[in-house]
Amino acid sequence: MEDILSDISIKRALNTRVIGRRILYLPVVPSTMLAAKEEAIAGAIEGTVVIAGRQTMGKGRLYRTWLSPPGSLALSILLYPGLDLTASLTVMAAVAAARSIKTITGLEARFKWPNDVLVNGKKVAGILAESGARGDISYAVIGIGVNVNNPIAALGDFALPATNLSREGGKSVNRLALLVNLLTEMDGLYVSGDTKAIYHEWRGKLHTLGKRVSVVSGDSARQGVAESVDENGNLTLRLDDGGLVKFAAGDVTLRPDPSV
Ligand code: BTN
Repeated sequence: MEDILSDISIKRALNTRVIGRRILYLPVVPSTMLAAKEEAIAGAIEGTVVIAGRQTMGKGRLYRTWLSPPGSLALSILLYPGLDLTASLTVMAAVAAARSIKTITGLEARFKWPNDVLVNGKKVAGILAESGARGDISYAVIGIGVNVNNPIAALGDFALPATNLSREGGKSVNRLALLVNLLTEMDGLYVSGDTKAIYHEWRGKLHTLGKRVSVVSGDSARQGVAESVDENGNLTLRLDDGGLVKFAAGDVTLRPDPSV
């Protein structure tokens, strides 16, 4: 398969039901999140995917910058999920990313709560879910950024060491093949709506569970052991005094516990 991303090359290689029904490839864009939201406001169909050659103002979680130079993958998927599926979309995207990384590169991906995708303990992909409404129609935009063949000297998330797939696998990776596989996996998961099975697959790859962590929310940090996660991705932390606190993925970030 050629490694040239374009509306036509992607569409030709794709055989999905919902995701990718419309493909918008933009060589340079500030952020595919913003572009996908503009699509939503304009009434674009569910499954519209916006893909960037590179982003100039890529967004990460918690208002961080996400760098996506040429050689990386940056895309956003526009969905109109019911309430039952909305909370599972990040988990779905993480599972789809891990599956496609395995299929295309043979590398095993694991997750750092809430939604970092790691290979060999280093961050290789990040997921960002945002939502909005056009009148009384709610939409979700799922952004996925993958470090594929791009240089890794200056990647966006400084809280975690970063890597890319070509470095970990020792050879360059066909981005078109990875993208098509990722969209196909995401399509299968979304159409199945089987949130229980998806959650179990995600949980099985969550390397955070059982570890001592520090959960940072705004200006405060709580330390404890990551005890469990529920089907919506919320984390329960067992504090040192035995108490339990639950965190929603949206509000917090996770660091290794500085006291260990
Ligand atoms: C994170 O790990 O903080 C989430 C990173 C999400 C990056 C992707 S790249 C495609 C989409 N467009 C953006 O501006 N951000 C997301």
